[in-house]
Amino acid sequence: MTDVQSYSGPNRVFSGIQPTGNLHLGNYLGALKKFVDLQAAGWTGIYCVVDLHAITQPHDPALLPDQTRQIAAAMLACGLDPDQSTVFVQSAVPAHAELAWIFNCVARMGWLEKMTQFKDKGGENSERVSVGLFDYPVLQAADILAYRATHVPVGEDQQQHLELSRNIAARFNQQYDAPGFFPEPEALIEGPGARIMSLKDGSKKMSKSDPSDLSRINLVDDRDTIARKIKKAKTDLLGDLPETEDGLEGRPEVENLVGIYSAFSGQSVEAVLAEFGGAGFGTFKPALAELAISHLAPITERMRAYMADPAEIDRALQKGAEKAHAISAPVIKEVRDVIGFWKS
Ligand code: TYM
Repeated sequence: MTDVQSYSGPNRVFSGIQPTGNLHLGNYLGALKKFVDLQAAGWTGIYCVVDLHAITQPHDPALLPDQTRQIAAAMLACGLDPDQSTVFVQSAVPAHAELAWIFNCVARMGWLEKMTQFKDKGGENSERVSVGLFDYPVLQAADILAYRATHVPVGEDQQQHLELSRNIAARFNQQYDAPGFFPEPEALIEGPGARIMSLKDGSKKMSKSDPSDLSRINLVDDRDTIARKIKKAKTDLLGDLPETEDGLEGRPEVENLVGIYSAFSGQSVEAVLAEFGGAGFGTFKPALAELAISHLAPITERMRAYMADPAEIDRALQKGAEKAHAISAPVIKEVRDVIGFWKS
């Protein structure tokens, strides 16, 4: 057995966002807002634009650099401070791809075959999609564990991938007789922002791939567009807002709008209903629009300013890549020792 130091370091947060099209309210409330809240609470955070993940599906190489910068711009515009947190691009740091290969030899085919996101994205075509798409969650585990991250703020759709990361960490530790070498990372999913649904169909999650732009609020939408989308958001014919949470049962669209209000305002769903219960949507929707705009408009403006100055984004990303490399390289070195690779 190799003599390894068991992990006993501080809590460390890692999360990633793919540079594949416009960010939307689900990405903001499910992920970005949590990153900033964790930073404010003093957590050490490492935030990554996951371009290696983005190429698992067809992409346009001419667009990828700006799509990558756009996610970085959103992270910075939401309030991540490159001095306090680490903001960088996945492909700029070699640890991700290297550890992913090693984890390919730890993860089991059967584990990956259970991944529902692969089934959804691969669809009926699973014979023809890239091996990378199948392997996607293994790379995600490598992202997290290359930094020995202990906590991962994500939306609910990532829960299964996080479970897989935990299994990979545990299996590696066991296979190499190295107890505690990798922490088993915990998903930070709680809160009303974890599952934001389509504004047009309360049974579908808000997603960048939905063909209807009215189904989502994009972080680049202007104030009027946000107000119009909320005004047009689907509700139901079951009357005004209920006064208690029980009354949201069977009303997924209404539950979603109340959840969005709660996530923005920081009030519990109960408190939102105490304020708006009995009111009609003619009252609630404008209040929600105003709240959403008051949060999003300054972010959108800052995002635009960053996008107008790509050199500033690149400077932040360069610094982030250096910080990320400095944390992950020693971990990879230890992994190599544990595995028994030749040392140069
Ligand atoms: P991605 O790029 O699809 O989404 C980024 C983040 O947004 C969250 N999210 C949502 N949250 C609430 N409601 C929604 N409708 C909604 N839609 C998206 C996602 O849960 C995610 O937190 N596999 C990841 C990227 C990744 C990663 C990682 C995340 C790669 N490596 C390591 C954490 C740790 C993904 O596809 O996210």
